[in-house]
Amino acid sequence: MASPLPTPVPAQLALGAALRAEFPILDQKVNGLPLVYLDNAATSQKPRAVLDALSRCYTEYNANVHRGVHALSAKATNEYEEARAKVAAFIGASTSREVVIVRNATEGINLVSNTWGAANIKQGDEIILSVAEHHANLVPWQLLAARTGAVLRHVRLTPDKSQLDMDHFRSLLSPRTRLVSLVHVSNVLGCVLDTAYVAEQARRVGAKLLLDCCQSVPHMPVDVCSLGADWIVASSHKFCGPSGVGFLWGRYDVLESMEPWMGGGEMIADVFLDQSTYAPPPMRFEAGTPAIAEAIGMGAAAEWLQQLGMDRVHAFEEEIGTYLYERLVAVSPRVTVYGPRPGAPRGRASLAAFNVEGLHATDVSTLLDMAGVAVRSGHHCAQPLHRELGVPASARASAYIYNTAAEIDTFIEALKDTIKFFDDAHGGVA
Ligand code: ALA
Repeated sequence: MASPLPTPVPAQLALGAALRAEFPILDQKVNGLPLVYLDNAATSQKPRAVLDALSRCYTEYNANVHRGVHALSAKATNEYEEARAKVAAFIGASTSREVVIVRNATEGINLVSNTWGAANIKQGDEIILSVAEHHANLVPWQLLAARTGAVLRHVRLTPDKSQLDMDHFRSLLSPRTRLVSLVHVSNVLGCVLDTAYVAEQARRVGAKLLLDCCQSVPHMPVDVCSLGADWIVASSHKFCGPSGVGFLWGRYDVLESMEPWMGGGEMIADVFLDQSTYAPPPMRFEAGTPAIAEAIGMGAAAEWLQQLGMDRVHAFEEEIGTYLYERLVAVSPRVTVYGPRPGAPRGRASLAAFNVEGLHATDVSTLLDMAGVAVRSGHHCAQPLHRELGVPASARASAYIYNTAAEIDTFIEALKDTIKFFDDAHGGVA
C-alpha cells in the first residue's frame, strides 16, 4: 500500500539540501549506494568550518595552553579560551567562567557526582532520576548511592509510555530530595522535558537540578539563564564538533562551592609537598593538558550553529522529524514508533526509535546498511527504558540539519524492502 505523503513538502525542508555541501563526508557511497546518514543522535557529522578549525590548530599554532609565554602557546591559549567563550555564547551563559571543558557529557555528570554529590549527598538523601535516562545519567548516581546510602527514585513513563509522567515526578519530591537529574530530550522517545515545571518543582523542595542536554543542545535553542538548571551537560560530537570533548555548564556560585575532582597541573593555585590550593572554576575542574584542538573545534561548531540560528535549526528539525515520523508509521501496522506524536505539547525530537513486529532491530539495521542507510540499533545506552517499553532493543533513525526529505524517502523504501525480504525468507508475514 502506498504511504500517504504529507504533501507538499514544506519549504523549511530546503535547508537540509542547502547545507550538504558544508559536510564533505556525506558525498559518498556505502555498499555501492549513496550514503543516507540517519545516526545523528549517536554522533553528528562535521562541517568544513570545524574541520578547518581542527586543521588550522595543528598546522598553524599547535602548542600547550596556559603554560608558555611563546607566541604559539599564547595563540593556542587564546583560541582555547575563545572556544570556551563561543560555547558560553551558544548556550546563553552570562560568563565563560561557567563553562567547564570536559571529555564528554558523561564526564560532566561524573564530575558533579564526585564533587557536589560527594560533599552534599548523605545516607537517606534522595536523588530523582527517570526510567528514560541514558546510562550516563544512571550509573554515576548508582555509584554515589552505593558509597553514601542515598536513595535513587525514578520517574516512570506516562501510561502510553511516550514520555515522563510529571504527576509521578511531583509525587516523588520531598524534603529528602537533594538532586533531580533528568534528560532534557530523550535519545529514544524523542520526548521533550517540561524544564520550567521541573525546575520550579525542584526549587520548591530545595533540590539541585542537572539536565542531560545531549539531545537538546544540538537541535534547539538552549538558554541556561532561563532553563532553571544548576548544571547542564552536552557532548561536542553530537553538535557538529569533534569527539573527546564536551562541556559542563554550572551556575558560578554552585561551581565555586564544589571541591576539585581530578588533581594535577592546571587546576591549582599553589602546590606544596603535602598540600595544595586550587584555581577558581572552571580551571579547578580541568586537570592536565586538555583536548586542545578538539575544544577549539567544539567552539567552531558552537559558533557555526549559532550563526546558522538555532531557531531555524529547530524549525527545520520539527519539519523533517514530523516527515520521518509520519512516513515511518505509514509503512505498516507492524511498525511501532516510540515516543509522543509530533503534535505533542512540547513536540518531539527529529528521531524515531522503532521496531517492526516479527523482526529484530539489528537485522533491520543490517539490511538498511546494505542499502546505504545508516541507523542505529540496540538499546541506545538506555536499557532500563527498553525494559519499560517491553523490548530488548530498537532501531533508531535520527535526522539532523543536513538530511533531506528525499533521504527519508530512501530510508522508507529500504525499510519496506527489508520487511519484504524477511517476510519472503520466512515464507510469509512473520
Ligand atoms: N548516546 C548516544 C546514542 O543515543 C550514543 O546513540
